Amino acid sequence: MSKRVDLLVGAQWGDEGKGKVVDVAGADVDVFVRYQGGANAGHTVIADGQKIVFHLLPSGMLYPGKLCILGNGLVIDPEQFLNETSDLFNRGQDRARLAVSPHAHVVMPYHKMLDKLQEEARGKGRKIGTTGRGIGPCYVDKYSRSGLRIQDLLDENILRERLTYILEEKNQLFTKLYNQKPLAFDEIYEPARKWGNAIAPYVDDTRALLRKAVDDGQHILLEGAQAALLDIDHGTYPYVTSSSTSAAGAFTGTGLSPHDLTRVISVVKAYTTRVGEGPFPTEDFGEAGEKLRTNGGEFGATTGRPRRCGWLDMVALKYSTELNGADVIALTKLDVLGGMGDIKVCTAYELDNGDKITTWPTDTGILSEVKPVYETLPGWNDDISGCKSFDDLPENAKSYINYIERALNTPIVLIGTGADRTQTINRGF
Ligand code: IMP
Repeated sequence: MSKRVDLLVGAQWGDEGKGKVVDVAGADVDVFVRYQGGANAGHTVIADGQKIVFHLLPSGMLYPGKLCILGNGLVIDPEQFLNETSDLFNRGQDRARLAVSPHAHVVMPYHKMLDKLQEEARGKGRKIGTTGRGIGPCYVDKYSRSGLRIQDLLDENILRERLTYILEEKNQLFTKLYNQKPLAFDEIYEPARKWGNAIAPYVDDTRALLRKAVDDGQHILLEGAQAALLDIDHGTYPYVTSSSTSAAGAFTGTGLSPHDLTRVISVVKAYTTRVGEGPFPTEDFGEAGEKLRTNGGEFGATTGRPRRCGWLDMVALKYSTELNGADVIALTKLDVLGGMGDIKVCTAYELDNGDKITTWPTDTGILSEVKPVYETLPGWNDDISGCKSFDDLPENAKSYINYIERALNTPIVLIGTGADRTQTINRGF
């Protein structure tokens, strides 16, 4: 039986439009999987004129009858999980097809409190600009072996015992370091126990389910959240998220092996955006940036924050294409560039001493000092949202696509021309 395991990952700083690509690509997928991050993600899908934002659940949940998995690599906020599932079930989705790994970690209320307190303590100039969803503190507990896993919520004795020890430690932090009131055990324990009861029906051996699905030749889509440049190891540290967002994270986050993978789909937005703090060489503070933000609706799906906007950065994209081992590219939001006039593409970074570099630096701190070196490409004014094939596109839009393909040596097989799932050009996806 031939395998079909696709991995979809972001190539920039997130918000590339991965939700839409999953939705478009999902028609013949059997199993959708999320494997890292948590409710910091905001994957927007517009189907039949309705906008749905997924934070935790795989975007494939909109397809009836498919299996959706939350893998062990996630950090799950139970309240968010229960709200998101009940919203979907109220829309008529079937609950039997959702499976949650017992080994995923639980984002507890104290993680969200710590996320905010730590950001405040970092202060201006050093804060990360997190989503405030408790992601960093939860992963810290996972790696320091002080975390609670989904399976711990299912056994009241284990939950009580672990939480007693954990809260002793957390209360030291709250009272001594952050000058806060200690947390009362029952205020944390009681809701956690109820979450356990509510989540229990979904808990399953997700690794074994996936293993069987792969061996049976089912089509699996692994949905990455955030993106390569926010990767804890390979991103613009410390301005990153706390998980392995590049392709490699899919294996630790599911229990699949690298041999299982058949294709990496890299999702590239036709320009660049970033939310939160951190270096962004092609950020445009003028009219172009403002136009991209307005035309592209660039406001965070999770926090509502305006996204920082700028031109496409080929130095960053070459790096993330290598890092993710991209086989194909899905290029999103090409329509937003219509009417922008000339289009700029960054091909190198100029350093303080005038030297130019064309590869990603190991010291990403210098990215906030470098000057982008641009090549200018002709733009187009036509509205491309109705284009159904590559040939329908204006010549300059075709040249832009060809330019990116050549520079990244990777075929662009899907092109987004508007927000709706129908506004997509398929070039052999
Ligand atoms: P955290 O993941 O909430 O800890 O935030 C760390 C950094 O990652 C911040 O700059 C966030 O804005 C960014 N980030 C986290 N999730 C997303 C996402 O889904 N899209 C874009 N940026 C994100």
